Amino acid sequence: MNEKEKITRTKIFVQDILAEAEKGHDWSHTLRVYTNALLISKGEEVDAFVVQLAALLHDIADSKFHNGNEEVGPLKARNFLQSISIDQEIIAHVENIIRYMSFKNTLEDQSAAFSSPELEVVRDADRLDAIGAIGIARTFHFGGYKNRSMYDPEIPPQVNQSKEAYKKSSAPTINHFYEKLLLLKDMMHTPTAKKLAEERHDFMLTFLEQFFKEWNG
Ligand code: ADP
Ligand code: NI
Repeated sequence: MNEKEKITRTKIFVQDILAEAEKGHDWSHTLRVYTNALLISKGEEVDAFVVQLAALLHDIADSKFHNGNEEVGPLKARNFLQSISIDQEIIAHVENIIRYMSFKNTLEDQSAAFSSPELEVVRDADRLDAIGAIGIARTFHFGGYKNRSMYDPEIPPQVNQSKEAYKKSSAPTINHFYEKLLLLKDMMHTPTAKKLAEERHDFMLTFLEQFFKEWNG
């Protein structure tokens, strides 16, 4: 199997796994991250094969949907990559990208964390899909899935939360914009993602302004 065939096999594997996933973290999300990761890669010196594999495999077992277990995703990815005879070095790299790219893992001390140019590309692509019009849609979708209030003026957003508090939060969906989404623009690493993030960020600000205008009547 050449690299192209291995990517095709990976797409089929992930599409199958995500068939029943929550629709904000489904195959369409993965495909958008994959497409944006390839776009961002054009401006970076990265191993495109690693970027593609990691983008495709990054959400196959999100800990939110696995009782907080953060090792299910990397392990599932490893087993699959071994089954299509990917080099051990590449497998270890992809596993680390999946393990360390999450926003919640940036809420803790990063000194021991793994990073690489490939991780930065995939993480920027994932973050782009969390903001803008798609980001708004995914966020309200997730809030609905969890039956959260859309907004409650009595419950203010909590910035600088610990990782545990962030994971446990059952706050209204609007709070998520202040706790995460509006912070992402300044957390992008690559110039391409920074540029794309500007427009999406401004769109969220416009949305929020209109939301509060209508809420307050
Ligand atoms: P990461 O994988 O980077 O840690 P999350 O999985 O927490 O990020 O979030 C991915 C997306 O899921 C968010 O961008 C948002 O759309 C949705 N989401 C996650 N947590 C919440 C929340 N508390 N309220 C509303 N949406 C959420
Ligand atoms: Ni994702």
